[in-house]
Amino acid sequence: MKKSEQIILDQSSAPEIGAGERAAASANPLVSATAAALAGEAVLPGDKSISHRALMFGALAVGETHIHGLLEGGDVLATAGALREYGVELDCQGPGKWRVWGVGVGGFAEPARVLDLGNAGTAVRLLMGIAAGHAFTSYFSGDDSLLSRPMKRVAEPLRRMGAKITARSACRLPLALTGSNDLLPIEYTLPVASAQVKSAVLLAGLAAPGETSIIEPAPSRDHSERMLRHFGADVRVEEEASGGRRITLAGQPELRAADLSVPADISSAAFPLGAALIVPGSNVLLKNVGINPLRSGLLDCVAEMGGKVELLEARELSGEPAADIAVSASELRAIDVPAARVPSMIDEYPILAILAAYAHGESRLRGLGELRHKESDRFAAIVEGLTACGVRVAADGDDILIDGAGGPPPGGAQIESRLDHRIAMAFLVLGMASQGSITIDDGAPIATSFPGFVELMNNLGGNINNV
Ligand code: S3P
Repeated sequence: MKKSEQIILDQSSAPEIGAGERAAASANPLVSATAAALAGEAVLPGDKSISHRALMFGALAVGETHIHGLLEGGDVLATAGALREYGVELDCQGPGKWRVWGVGVGGFAEPARVLDLGNAGTAVRLLMGIAAGHAFTSYFSGDDSLLSRPMKRVAEPLRRMGAKITARSACRLPLALTGSNDLLPIEYTLPVASAQVKSAVLLAGLAAPGETSIIEPAPSRDHSERMLRHFGADVRVEEEASGGRRITLAGQPELRAADLSVPADISSAAFPLGAALIVPGSNVLLKNVGINPLRSGLLDCVAEMGGKVELLEARELSGEPAADIAVSASELRAIDVPAARVPSMIDEYPILAILAAYAHGESRLRGLGELRHKESDRFAAIVEGLTACGVRVAADGDDILIDGAGGPPPGGAQIESRLDHRIAMAFLVLGMASQGSITIDDGAPIATSFPGFVELMNNLGGNINNV
């Protein structure tokens, strides 16, 4: 390490709840120009998936849950705000330290207002699962990005369990869900490997008698299963001959409050990690990052590309594996990423595409149809953004082909972030070593998952500034 200072995010002010609206804060254009060699240690924000679940499962348990390392980004604060609307008491006791007074499964009160989940797909889909077990109507809405996202995948199994759902055309938000005190347990085969849909069914299954089973075609992130066990639920996981998994939950458990520590988000760590690989001379240590094997596909890709990445001090935090990640600048070679790897790195394709643009040779990223349904159409955002940066890129069905520059690509483009935090961060990383700087029209969405991103990157050696 050239520089040994620790970079700690400024999360000092206790955030006000209901901050889903923050995602819609006024536009904040940013420019990323050539960075100095990145050096130092980075303490990154908490895992977004685990943070949403920590608040929700804490709310469904009986008693007082203490959470450390909670992500205080717009998405998780939107979940906190919605839980308050459901009558759950929770408070922030300091940076990342939260307390939730759980009301027990089925103990939520009818919200008086429409629940505005901002940009947060995980929040709305998981809360729909909880709402299904309550015999009142919940109204869900969000920002322009969330309004465009498909909800049929969640509505379908929840309707089978007994929820009534009325939504805008193509089953998009705004949406009204009337739950039931008599939900039916179901056996449900997921049409796509989606942890959000799986989790929504599990959360509804908590309120149903008997066993609810979900069969997933390929294993998706298992934070819900791990956390349900942490709170005392009976969850069985069996491997299917097809390569998928069957997850079975015994319904109507009494969840017991349990303290939780949230590791840093590998999906956020991916950006300083990617930057350190492409900015010459870099050497960075990313602290306490979650390395759940169902989330760590990017690390496999980077290893195959010849990236110098090392896991240190492996440990476990509240049932989730974590480690420090040491990363240094590397010559990268092209990669052919199998479609089977998609679930374990679904959110990491924007940054992987940037790495492929720097690599030697032609990369093929396979089976990316699901990227069209994220915070933006990430498939189009990657292809159009890289093209604007002078990178030779092509779409072939659901695959993206990227002809790497074998070094810094031209860059020098203005990129639309499309209300998508990860598109914004990925292209800012591209600008850290490209020939011309990169401007993004709006950095505000970054705060949904990675508050303090610009400061953290600049403290490591980045050169990202307001336009
Ligand atoms: C998430 C699951 C993934 C991921 C999202 C978070 C979760 O979505 O893209 O950012 O916390 O369960 P899908 O379930 O749609 O794949």
